Amino acid sequence: MEHRDLSEADPELYETLKNEASRQEKEGLEMIASENFVPLQILQAQGSVMTNKYAEGYPGKRYYAGCKHHDDAENLARERACELFNAEHANVQPHSGTTANFAAYFSVLEAGDKILGPVLSHGGHLSHGHHVNFSGDLFNFETYAINQETERFEYQDVLKAAKKHDPDLIICGYSAYPRKVDFKMFREIADEVDAILMADIAHISGLVAAGVHENPFPECDIVTTTTHKSIRGPRGGMIMCQKKYADAVDKAVFPYSQGGPLMHQIAAKAVCFKEASKPEFKNYAKQIIKNTSALAESLKEEGIELVSNGTDNHLVLIDLKKEDVTGREAEEALEKANIIVNKNMVPYDPEPPMVTSGIRIGTPALTTRGMKTEEMKEIGKTVADIIKRPEPDVIERSREKVEMLIEKFPLYRGSEVEY
Ligand SMILES: Cc1ncc(COP(=O)(O)O)c(C=O)c1O
Repeated sequence: MEHRDLSEADPELYETLKNEASRQEKEGLEMIASENFVPLQILQAQGSVMTNKYAEGYPGKRYYAGCKHHDDAENLARERACELFNAEHANVQPHSGTTANFAAYFSVLEAGDKILGPVLSHGGHLSHGHHVNFSGDLFNFETYAINQETERFEYQDVLKAAKKHDPDLIICGYSAYPRKVDFKMFREIADEVDAILMADIAHISGLVAAGVHENPFPECDIVTTTTHKSIRGPRGGMIMCQKKYADAVDKAVFPYSQGGPLMHQIAAKAVCFKEASKPEFKNYAKQIIKNTSALAESLKEEGIELVSNGTDNHLVLIDLKKEDVTGREAEEALEKANIIVNKNMVPYDPEPPMVTSGIRIGTPALTTRGMKTEEMKEIGKTVADIIKRPEPDVIERSREKVEMLIEKFPLYRGSEVEY
């Protein structure tokens, strides 16, 4: 086998990687709430020799020989996850958040069982019962809604839905909800109807790990997450649970829904959990909250409406119903100014999903770049200017501001990260 540097072995692909590195470094303000930038140590683990091995099974119980170092890596990831989230058991093998949810449901339910989840346009994810996803196809999903007045999930509404539908499992945790999730409230409701309580903390797991959002344990029975959003690790998923569900969760991941684990990703998850336990990460998560709050205040000062009138976490949801632009138009105009966000349904949205009346904006990635409240205030004003008047002169002026801002906050520039 010939080892060659990627730049020589495959110049075409190498060029593509270089282009992407350059786009991330220079081309825009990354404000998609589910994205982040990982440090060199995570990239190294992902690009390591751990990719070479089949390690079906679990540490100490593999289907192939030669897994001793893979056992070490997976044990590190599992132990660190349990410590970080105060969990009794962790399965670090799910390839993604969606497959984690698949296995989590099937660990305690059978196809056709009833799940109570959020109305999807009120912040849920596809894997919380959308008809185009396995979840909506295989399970009987019923919904609870955001309260139209407070624009939050309220006890009486969720309880009413739970009593009406008598679900086997209730899911809380969202993709586009700017407020804290009240796990105690959901526990009370789940107990009222004797349902299993599952939290999907894909978006907020970094905030939970750092202690700036309540922990779903001990209230929740099963907790799923991704590892690539606010927790700033490699792409992937994880399931944590109370001990009594450990065997069922492990079986639902392998052999029920996956084959060989992606051991290079699991190695990187171990690094991610180590990073997330450090005081520096706590400061990072605190800064995310400060930054989002500054962004929210600045948008509000410019007369922009926010769902629930603010934020407790890493994202704001702009409500454009009173503006002259739709979510799609605002997304496009902001992209022209190199501000990268996504259109998003707002609760009780009159527009269809491909148009929407909302914009979701998150701060984890820019906080990783080192931006602070001062920059967030400036960005809030710029976003508001574009929403109010998405005309070429405003976009051009904003693009220049964005360029100057990015220049001041290098990402990988000057580090050993080559692409
Ligand atoms: C709440 C929630 N759960 C699950 C997922 C799915 O994660 P993945 O894209 O890794 O399948 C997401 C992704 O955005 C999410 O926001």
